[in-house]
Amino acid sequence: MTATATVPTPPVKEAPHHVEKVLWVKHWTDRLFSFAITRPASLRFRSGEFVMIGLPPREELGEKKPILRAYSVASPHFAEELEFFSIKVPDGPLTSRLQLIQEGDEVLLGKKPTGTLVLDAVRPGKRLFLFGTGTGLAPWLSVARDPDAYARFERVIVAHGVREVQELAYRDLFTAEIHDDPLVGDEAKAQLTYYPTVTREPFERQGRFTDLITSGQIFRDLGLDQVKFDPEHDRAMLCGSMAMIKDTAALLEAHGLKEGSNADPGDFVIERAFVG
Ligand code: A2P
Repeated sequence: MTATATVPTPPVKEAPHHVEKVLWVKHWTDRLFSFAITRPASLRFRSGEFVMIGLPPREELGEKKPILRAYSVASPHFAEELEFFSIKVPDGPLTSRLQLIQEGDEVLLGKKPTGTLVLDAVRPGKRLFLFGTGTGLAPWLSVARDPDAYARFERVIVAHGVREVQELAYRDLFTAEIHDDPLVGDEAKAQLTYYPTVTREPFERQGRFTDLITSGQIFRDLGLDQVKFDPEHDRAMLCGSMAMIKDTAALLEAHGLKEGSNADPGDFVIERAFVG
């Protein structure tokens, strides 16, 4: 009999992030771009959730850790690729580099998508208002391409607020392309309203969400009989700057809507659009 020394095997350390490949990049303006990456088979998420995105450290520059930021996934939960809509911040630790990515480059992807801008966090209702300013449109690209949104609500309103007309990224998607989507095309034609508004130059609709709500214009534009949100039937999700969320949420509350969460679904949910 031979004695064998048992050497304990060290636990295999799991990589903290997936390493995925860039599939395409689209530049909208000098401040906005979108990109898509491959999706690892193990990654599960709900439409509207966010995940960490980053770039590998440049060892030649002495970088030890990757820089990561939270990004809403702009694809619906069943999509084969993962799409993101990003701002370009000239001095931003991540986006100053991320804006330079090209097809085939590697991007780090967090393993735990999460978030509150999901259909499960709002109570059943008739109308779902999705309010997004700037890149705060991203989660609505996911939710509005998910058939579940149309199964749960009679009407889905994607409201996009920007400073300048050229920042209305995805306008072609919402005004035309989505109507040919094999999964939600018919539902989008019948149930989806795209509601863009511009604040700092002439456009067919102007003004902040807060002003459009307070004046009642949004309700008239949508052909509704009401001049306020109706807590029985209206649900909302907010994504954008802190100031927009704070002011719009205060209005929703004044109209009798209550904030919800994953643990306690309500009439509206909020999440800050991520920058950096
Ligand atoms: P405005 O041009 O009047 O500031 P930003 O790029 O600063 O995030 O702004 C995106 C859009 O959100 C702009 O149209 C901006 O309008 C609007 N906005 C900014 N702050 C608020 C707020 N507190 N409430 C409603 N809309 C806001």
